Amino acid sequence: ADGDAEKGKKVFKKCKACHQVGEKAKNKVGPILNDIVGREIATVEGFKYSKAFKAKKEEGGFVWDDANLDGYLTKPKKFIPKNKMAFAGLKKEKDRVNVIAYLKTFSKP
Ligand code: HEM
Repeated sequence: ADGDAEKGKKVFKKCKACHQVGEKAKNKVGPILNDIVGREIATVEGFKYSKAFKAKKEEGGFVWDDANLDGYLTKPKKFIPKNKMAFAGLKKEKDRVNVIAYLKTFSKP
């Protein structure tokens, strides 16, 4: 089922300490998340990614589609070992689906 972007906006509060979206978004502790859905991993200009992220990209990378975002947000450290996102993950599938729906509102269709 499709996520609810309004509910996802509330879930995104957990991400806001490190990530920004919207017109005035800047890289902070984490990279800007505008256009994240459909984007290659580790491609935000000016953001200093971890070795783990850079290695993933160099070995071929992948696109942040729904499935990869869901896997990463479930357990970030399991999905990409040694990455530097200090976040335990979102246990509830609904939260993940909803926050991905919210991120889609800042991504091209
Ligand atoms: C990376 C999403 C919470 C810090 C990423 C990436 C995504 C993401 C999709 C990959 C970006 C890319 O490849 O360009 C989220 C979402 C969150 C969340 C949806 C909330 C549910 C946080 C929090 C922090 C954080 C709370 C800081 C404590 C980072 C950092 C990276 C990253 C530092 C880069 C990782 C690396 O280079 O190893 N995040 N994030 N994130 N995030 Fe988050």
